[in-house]
Amino acid sequence: MIAIYPGSFDPITYGHLDIINRCANKFTKVIVAVLNNQNKSVVFSTEERVSMIKELTSGYDNVQVDNFEGLLIDYAKKMKADVIVRGLRAVSDYEYEMQMSLYNKQLCPEVETMFLVSDTKYSYLSSSIVKEIASYGGEISNFVPSTIEERIKAKYGCK
Ligand code: PNS
Repeated sequence: MIAIYPGSFDPITYGHLDIINRCANKFTKVIVAVLNNQNKSVVFSTEERVSMIKELTSGYDNVQVDNFEGLLIDYAKKMKADVIVRGLRAVSDYEYEMQMSLYNKQLCPEVETMFLVSDTKYSYLSSSIVKEIASYGGEISNFVPSTIEERIKAKYGCK
C-alpha cells in the first residue's frame, strides 16, 4: 500500500518524524508530500523543506520526499496512493482534519484518510510553536533534530 503523508513541514519536527517512522513500518511506500504553498506564508522555501526532510529520512528505503501544488487529492490520485495519513494531536486538530478527510473522500472515495494518534511526547508540538519559541531565542532542541535547530536559529538570527 502506498501512503502519502502531506503537510507544510515548516519545518519538520520530531512529531512529524515519529509519524514518518510509524508509516514506514506499516506501508510499502511512504511519500512525504510538502505543500508548495502559494498563499500560506512560510519561513522555509519548498526546496529547503524538502531537502531537510530528505536528509532526515535518507535511512529509509521506502520513504520518498516530494512537493505538490494544488489539491492534495489530485496529487494522491496522480501518485496512485491508497491512503492519506495525518497525525492527530489534540481534540483541537479534529475539526479541521475531519473536514479535510470528508472533502477528500467525496472527491475520491478510493483514497482513504488514516489518522495516527501522535505520541504523547509530541501531542503539544507544532512547527508554529517551535518557530515562535526560536524567534524569542528559546530552547528548541527537544522539538527538532540538531540540523533543523541550526537552520531555524540561522533564520531567526540566533546563535
Ligand atoms: O501541515 P499542515 O499545514 O496542517 O498541512 C495541511 C495540508 C497541506 C495537508 C492541507 O492544507 C492540504 O492538503 N492542502 C492542499 C490543498 C487542498 O487539497 N486543500 C483542500 C483540503 S480540504
